[in-house]
Amino acid sequence: MSVPALQAFKQAFHSAKTHLNNAGLAPISRPARDKLCLWADYFYQDGYFSDAEYAAECEQVRHNLALLIGCSPSRVAFFSSTAVAISQVAFSFPLGPRDEVLMFDQEYGSNLFPWREACLRSGALLRLVPSGRDLSAPLDALLGAISAKTRVVAISSVQYQSGAVADLDGLVKACRDRGIFVCVDAMQSIGLMPMDMDALGLDAVAGGSHKWLTSPVGVGYLGVSERLANLLKPLSVGAQSYGSCDLPTQEVCELKVDLSRLEPGSKASAEIIALGASVEMIQNTGVVNILSEVERLANRLCQGLLVAGYRLLCTHGQDAPVRGSIVNFGPGATSKRRTNIDIIDALNGVGIRAVLRGGGVRLSPHAFNSDEDIETALFALR
Ligand SMILES: Cc1ncc(COP(=O)(O)O)c(C=O)c1O
Repeated sequence: MSVPALQAFKQAFHSAKTHLNNAGLAPISRPARDKLCLWADYFYQDGYFSDAEYAAECEQVRHNLALLIGCSPSRVAFFSSTAVAISQVAFSFPLGPRDEVLMFDQEYGSNLFPWREACLRSGALLRLVPSGRDLSAPLDALLGAISAKTRVVAISSVQYQSGAVADLDGLVKACRDRGIFVCVDAMQSIGLMPMDMDALGLDAVAGGSHKWLTSPVGVGYLGVSERLANLLKPLSVGAQSYGSCDLPTQEVCELKVDLSRLEPGSKASAEIIALGASVEMIQNTGVVNILSEVERLANRLCQGLLVAGYRLLCTHGQDAPVRGSIVNFGPGATSKRRTNIDIIDALNGVGIRAVLRGGGVRLSPHAFNSDEDIETALFALR
C-alpha cells in the first residue's frame, strides 16, 4: 500500500475484531471516538458555557459534509436518519393523483417506504421497476419505465443487497429535459465513492452516519438542488426553523431561507461533531484512495470465494470488475459450506459477523480492513 494517507486511515481504527459488515454498521474511527469523548466531557463540565462552540462545530460539519457530497452548505440539513431525510423530501414533494414515482424493486426500506407512503397519501402511483439478474440495477430498465407521468426517480446510488451501482449520470441526462426530479439514497456510497451532486445535477442526496462515514449511529443528512430547496416545506417546525433559541418568540416570523429551516430544534450535536471528525479524515485520505483499497480487498475476497467453489450473487467480481465493497455470495457446486447458514456459522466461528441479504451472504470490507481479514474469512470457508 503506497499512499501514506491510506496507511494513516488504516491506523485510525481499532483492530481487535474483524469488521466485515461495514455495509451494515461500521466501527467508528478514532477521531470520531475522540471527539465524542471530548464533547461528553465538555457537556459534563461546561454545560451552557459550551453553547456557542458546539453550534459552531455543527456548522463546520455541515460545511465539510457539503464539500463531500458536492453541494452548497446552505442546501444541507441534518436529520436523525436517512429515513427521516427522505421522508422530508417525499412528504413535501408536490405529488398528485396523475403523478408517478419510479424506483427499483430492491430499494431499502428507508427509501421505499417514505415514497410509498407519500404516494398513498397523494394518490400518486409508485412504480417498482424489476431489477436485473442477480439484483443488478440496469439504467435501461428505469428509462424504459419513464412516462409522461413520471415526476420523481428515487433510487440508491449503491444497492444494499447486491452492491449494484447506479448510473446516475445517465439517469440525470434522461430526466433533466423532462423535468423529472432525481432523488438518491446515497447511504451505501457517501464516504466510499466520489459524489458531486451539483455537477451531476441530482435533486436530492440523503444518507446517514454509520456505514462508510464510520461515525456514530443517529445522524442523517440531506443535500438538495436549488429547485428542490424551493419546493421543500418543513415537516416539523420549532424555534430553530425560524431563528435561534435567543430570539424572542413572536407570532409573526419568517422561516429561515437556507435548508437548516428543516431542522426544527436542537440536534444530536455530539454525534454530528463526531461525524465531522470522520468526514475530515475521509477528506484527508481521499475518497478515491479509499475506494481503490476497498475494491482491491473486495476483489481479493471475490477471487478467493470463486476458487473455493462459492457462487457470487452480485453482478461484479466474476464477469465484471468489482465496484465498491459489497460482495454477495452463496454455496456453489464444490464449496465446503453447503448453505447460507453454514457460511454464516463458519464465519462466526472465526469471529466474523456476516448477514443474509438478497438470497446470499453479504460481506463488505472497508479500507481499514487488511488482507489478513480477507484471508481469515476465506480460511473459514475453505
Ligand atoms: C441503501 C440504504 N439506505 C439507508 C440505510 C439506513 O437507513 P436509516 O438511516 O434510515 O436507518 C441503509 C442501511 O442499511 C441502506 O442500506
